[in-house]
Amino acid sequence: MLDKPVILVTGASRGIGKAIALRFAQAGFACALTARNAAKLQETAQQVTEAGAPQTLVIPADLTRDADIDRLARTVLEQWGKVDVLVNNAGVLFLKPFTELSIEEFDQMMAVNMRAVFLLTQKIVPGMISRRTGTIINIASLAGKNGFKNGTGYGATKWALRGWASSLMLELREYDVRVITIFPGSVNTDMAGQLPSAPLPETRLQPEDVAHAAFQAYVLPQRAMMSEIDLRPSNPKKG
Ligand SMILES: NC(=O)c1ccc[n+]([C@@H]2O[C@H](COP(=O)([O-])OP(=O)(O)OC[C@H]3O[C@@H](n4cnc5c(N)ncnc54)[C@H](OP(=O)(O)O)[C@@H]3O)[C@@H](O)[C@H]2O)c1
Repeated sequence: MLDKPVILVTGASRGIGKAIALRFAQAGFACALTARNAAKLQETAQQVTEAGAPQTLVIPADLTRDADIDRLARTVLEQWGKVDVLVNNAGVLFLKPFTELSIEEFDQMMAVNMRAVFLLTQKIVPGMISRRTGTIINIASLAGKNGFKNGTGYGATKWALRGWASSLMLELREYDVRVITIFPGSVNTDMAGQLPSAPLPETRLQPEDVAHAAFQAYVLPQRAMMSEIDLRPSNPKKG
């Protein structure tokens, strides 16, 4: 088993996932990085190494495919023997009026934003339970606590994620495994570019802000758990 702390980050090719990997790399975590885009993952791997990660694993995977999720979990566990921090971050957004949202788009959001989280976590949690330590960090959204126009599908996946995470938190804390769920508002990434009514880029949260919140929640003493974090700009007019 690797003698360094291990983080597995989904959606590590860009945006919030990449920022989280970089933040934990600075603290000496070995980083297992996954997303579909292998070239972008290699860029992240290079940057996390420069930031201080002692080792990296790049595992391209499509989280809509069960076989890829299985291979992802097996690769990390076979290579490094454990995952200390699992970050369920990958997500997709189709922002459309309800009557225009196709079932394929709905299914894709449900597959990446919820079903893959269920499947991957189920493969990683047994090791955490048996070692009686571990942290699962889920990136939900304030759209998982409020409705918003044209967000029927996306909102449904993030509300589902919240329901799943809050139940899992109650189950796993008996084994000293923490479940932390972050609910960001609009963050300055490719995804926020799709939001026509989103705040201007300079007034949005930055991916590093979400990474900072994730790391702060992680470094709390093991006995303390920030189970839900709402993250929004302090002043929406200023950023
Ligand atoms: N940006 C916001 O305003 C905002 C606000 C609240 C919550 N969030 C949440 O934050 C998380 C990260 O979003 P972001 O803003 O960083 O978005 P982003 O820049 O669009 O990044 C999304 C990530 O998910 C990966 N991904 C998408 N589909 C995938 C699939 N089928 N298989 C594997 N990986 C897949 C992408 O990698 P590949 O394309 O390389 O596969 C990418 O790394 C999401 O869960 C999102 O819902 C975002």
